[in-house]
Amino acid sequence: MRMVHISDIHVSSQYYVPEWGQKVVDLINNLDPDVLIVSGDLVYEGLMHEYDQAVEYLDAIKVRKKIIIPGNHDARNEGYRLFEEVFEKRFPVYENGVVQILGIDSSEPDISDGHVGRENYSLIEETLSDLDKLRILTLHHHLIPIPGTGRERHIPLDAGDVLKVCHDVGVNLVLSGHKHRPWIWCMEDTYFITAGTATTRRLKGRSYPCFNVLDLEGGELVVTEVNVSDESKKEILRFRMH
Ligand SMILES: [Fe+2]
Ligand SMILES: [Fe+2]
Repeated sequence: MRMVHISDIHVSSQYYVPEWGQKVVDLINNLDPDVLIVSGDLVYEGLMHEYDQAVEYLDAIKVRKKIIIPGNHDARNEGYRLFEEVFEKRFPVYENGVVQILGIDSSEPDISDGHVGRENYSLIEETLSDLDKLRILTLHHHLIPIPGTGRERHIPLDAGDVLKVCHDVGVNLVLSGHKHRPWIWCMEDTYFITAGTATTRRLKGRSYPCFNVLDLEGGELVVTEVNVSDESKKEILRFRMH
């Protein structure tokens, strides 16, 4: 099974690079994944015409199952209402014979801070409960600070409690975005993968636009990062489920 994780496409922003955007569409279509995970910040100000652009962009990616969650930019200006109109769920769930995926809306309208909320902890516990499957939680905000991104801001106010839930449940992967810099942390049995921005030049330092490909075969997961700028690939994680 193949999944692709992209984040922070910001299709309507001044930082969006159309050439990179098209390349991401073409690369993903060639990879032909089973599932596409989009971890928020589709637009910039949460406005209606921006959502039209985001829908047009995501429609060009020919993947049967898409798990799309909002980021802080998508929630601006009541954009969270448009998000629900357009994508229906802010807390999408997907399950097949080998994976369980839960998306969580960690955005708060008109502020950039993240927040999951204790009312959603049981959702994580109940949805990601099959120990025989790869269990993935995706939310826009990072739960652990990301190096090289300046002063720490916007981390979910309840990050500590959410980390505890992830630990107790034994979530395998937490997929996030927001920081526009790719990074992986590992804590106990959970890998926290922050994807960079796939399509914008709002890059930190010498960072680069990128996305991740997750291949699950025979209980082994391999995560490959694709650099959108030069199309180079590198394996960033390999582990066997136990
Ligand atoms: Fe972003
Ligand atoms: Fe963000």
